[in-house]
Amino acid sequence: MKVTLSVIKADVGSFVGHHTVHPLQFEVAKSCLQRAKDEGTIIDSYITNAGDDLELIMTHQKGVGDESVHKLAWDTFMEVTEKASKKLKLYAAGQDLLATAFSGNLKGMGPGVAEAEFEERISEPIVIFMADKTEPGAWNPPLYRMFADPYCTPGLVIDQSMHDGFTFRIMDVEQDKIVDLNAPDEIYDILALIGTPGRYVIHSILRRVDGALGATASTSRLSLMAGKYVGKDDPVCFVRAQHGFPAVGEILEPFSFPHLVAGWMRGSHNGPLMPVGIKDSRCTRFDGPPRVVALGFQLNDGQLVGPGDMFEDVAFDRSRAQASEIAEYMRRNGPFMPARLGPEEMEYTTLHDILDKLKDRFHPATETIQSTT
Ligand code: F6R
Ligand code: MG
Ligand code: MG
Repeated sequence: MKVTLSVIKADVGSFVGHHTVHPLQFEVAKSCLQRAKDEGTIIDSYITNAGDDLELIMTHQKGVGDESVHKLAWDTFMEVTEKASKKLKLYAAGQDLLATAFSGNLKGMGPGVAEAEFEERISEPIVIFMADKTEPGAWNPPLYRMFADPYCTPGLVIDQSMHDGFTFRIMDVEQDKIVDLNAPDEIYDILALIGTPGRYVIHSILRRVDGALGATASTSRLSLMAGKYVGKDDPVCFVRAQHGFPAVGEILEPFSFPHLVAGWMRGSHNGPLMPVGIKDSRCTRFDGPPRVVALGFQLNDGQLVGPGDMFEDVAFDRSRAQASEIAEYMRRNGPFMPARLGPEEMEYTTLHDILDKLKDRFHPATETIQSTT
């Protein structure tokens, strides 16, 4: 059967600053999705959090961009805002709900969406990644390594069904354009683009032999939509595993290295992406460090069997320790680049107001030097 997996997230207010999601927010969201399940809008759902982001994982048979499913997510976020965030005066209630009313599709309205329709295989293992205090481009290095780097994924060499490689659908989030590039033949072009994760973001990955979907990710950038800083985009993505796709272990392997991502503290700093289990899915030190959780499911006629909490494993202890060490090193750099992001990334933050305030105090350098010497 054809099934659609929709992973839709938003920060609609959080508990103790931007730290995590409050139990009452989960409760309200769960009752909304249970209602939708009873009414037949969705087949199944699971709700979790990545730091302060509420994550709705839903299956249905309505295809990508379906109005009733997107409206369900929007109404759920609204209801959580009203019945939990505002009621408890949680921090930044309704933060990511940029639009005043729902208008057919969530695109451009604030919540992040990773969504795809595919034929459910005889056995369909899936891993869903959700991150906090970072941006969609944070998935670029791990997705590249899963689907194009044989040092991470020996299946690319060994497994005949992966040997022809994968197509990377890459989005220029500033121009709202898409380009398809093929691995392995065009890996240098792929890397030339995705090495700029603030602009070029992997949207999805398709198997070249048959076009089957391997992975898809959220690509929205709130600051580009709102024209100002409204928190980082805290992205989601999911990856289909095994039997012609990377094995679960090949999918998790890139996260053993806590690579640097943008989005820590005020969306303005680089920091290591720390892989954690759900119990540690909270942001504390310097509002971070940026964290990623991974939930694994088996689909069973659209039912979500699971989850397996994939990073809740001692095998990732060393990666977490390394992330802490990198966090320590980065923070010793204080407010200086490259620990702080560069000027083009800071354009959408509150730094803009400071520069604006000072602009009339700048004089031509030669004039000033002559008058003081
Ligand atoms: C939120 C985030 C936080 C906030 C910071 C300041 O996603 O990354 O680091 O940016 O806590 O928040 P405000 O400006 O709301 O006081
Ligand atoms: Mg928040
Ligand atoms: Mg967040």
